[in-house]
This record gives sequence, structure tokens and C-alpha cells, in this order.
Amino acid sequence: MEAIKEGLRTVCFGQDIRYFPSTESTNLIAKKIAEQGGKEGTLVIADYQTRGKGRLARTWWSPPGANLLFSLIFRPSSEVTHSFRLTLLCSLAVAQAIRQETGLEALIKWPNDVYIKGKKVSGILSELGFKDGTLEYVVVGIGMNVNCDPSTHPELLDIATSLRIELKRNVSRLTLLTGILKMIEGYYELMKRGEFGALRESWELLSLVKGKRVRIVSLECSKEGIAESIDDEGFLIIRNSSGERERIVSGDVSLTFVEEVV
Ligand code: BTN
Repeated sequence: MEAIKEGLRTVCFGQDIRYFPSTESTNLIAKKIAEQGGKEGTLVIADYQTRGKGRLARTWWSPPGANLLFSLIFRPSSEVTHSFRLTLLCSLAVAQAIRQETGLEALIKWPNDVYIKGKKVSGILSELGFKDGTLEYVVVGIGMNVNCDPSTHPELLDIATSLRIELKRNVSRLTLLTGILKMIEGYYELMKRGEFGALRESWELLSLVKGKRVRIVSLECSKEGIAESIDDEGFLIIRNSSGERERIVSGDVSLTFVEEVV
């Protein structure tokens, strides 16, 4: 914890740190802290999670002491519809920090995954907390495969990677963490000043989906189209086969790539 504090270059994010060698889920702890009034920027970080949560009710696998597993408390004053911007902002920060610290070409797969060479290296799970119908906090949980070997886990063999696998050397979790927090703080300031457009442009430059044919599956329906851009809320705009634009709200959707038949 002291080491994290020493490396910090932020004024808010990570100034209050709650470290756990092992815990159920950092998102769960961060939500409890937020509900008890924990302040914006609080960092909950663990070396191991016994019930790490992923999106779409999946579990997040991570062996002890190898990776980054942390959650941050945000208290955005904006409307609920803007809260998805936070997830995008964090995925941009993660991708940029990986690029800066390792030189690897990290790309963002909408809504909130970070990929290297076609394999997932990081995932983000945002959870919203309300009181009397008003948004009170957003907890953004970030998991990043830093020094693990996902191939030891049969289900992940073909779909996940880690920075160590890509670089063939260990990477400092501390340097990455402080880099991500610095980026998040800077981007959050931009967003609060109403400059989300600049972030959107940076995000689109690193988009893995832009221009690709994608399939979006949710509980209600399945849609296909060419991914064109993201809008001001951070929702995906696709062009369907009739040439119409459709706005995809992130929620509980999964996005897969559709092979083009030539
Ligand atoms: C996903 O890609 O499905 C999102 C994965 C999010 C995992 C992180 S690890 C830290 C935080 N605590 C959790 O229980 N989940 C998030």
C-alpha cells in the first residue's frame, strides 16, 4: 500500500486505498464503502478474489498475486445516461497505459474490453448505486492480466492473453496501476469540463470494432451491422443491412465479430 502511495501522481484517484491480500470481489467491497459514504477516488485493490465478477454474470479468473484487480469509486454529478461514459473513459485509460508502459498495441473492443493481438487482456465491470432514484455512485472494477498465463486455464487458452505472455517478461503491476490512475484522473477532469468529444475521438482511434461487421446479442434480440462510431453517451452506432443507423445501448449485450463472406 505504501508503495502504491509513493508512486501516485494523482490528487484524487488512489489517495484513499483499501488493500486486501484476498477478498470476495473488489467491486463488492467498493460498493459497501460507497454506500457508507466513501469518497470519490477511493481505490479498493486485491491480490486475489474468491468470487471475481465479470460482465453478463460471468466469473473473472485471476491467480493470486499475478494481476491487477481493483475498483474505483466515482461520484459523478451528471445524469445516469452519462455514467456509461465512465466505462469508456476507463477502457481508454487502460489501453493507453498499456501502450505507454509496454509499447504493446492495446485496442478497445466496445463496450469495455481491452485486447492485444485479438485476445482479451483486460475487462471492466461498472456497477451503479442509487438512492431514492438518484445516482449516488458508480463503481468501476478493472481486471487486467499482467503476469498470469491464461493458457493454464483451458477455457481461456484461445481468447485471453497477458502482458507477460506478449512481452515474455514480467511487468510491474505498480507502474501500470499508477499510470492507469493518472490517465483516469486526467480523462475524468476532461469529461467533467464537458470535453467528452476529445475522449471519444481518442477512443475511436483505438477501437477494435470500428468498420467491422459485428453481431450484438442481448436477452431480447440479436442484431448485425457494420460498427461505425460511438455517440456522445458512449453507445455504439451500427449500420444495419437496410442501411439504417441503429444505436446500441451497452447494458447486458455481448459483441462478436462476423466473418465477411467474400
Ligand atoms: C468482464 O470483462 O467481464 C469484466 C471483468 C471485470 C473484473 C474486475 S476484477 C476487479 C473487479 N472486481 C470484480 O469482481 N470484478 C472486477
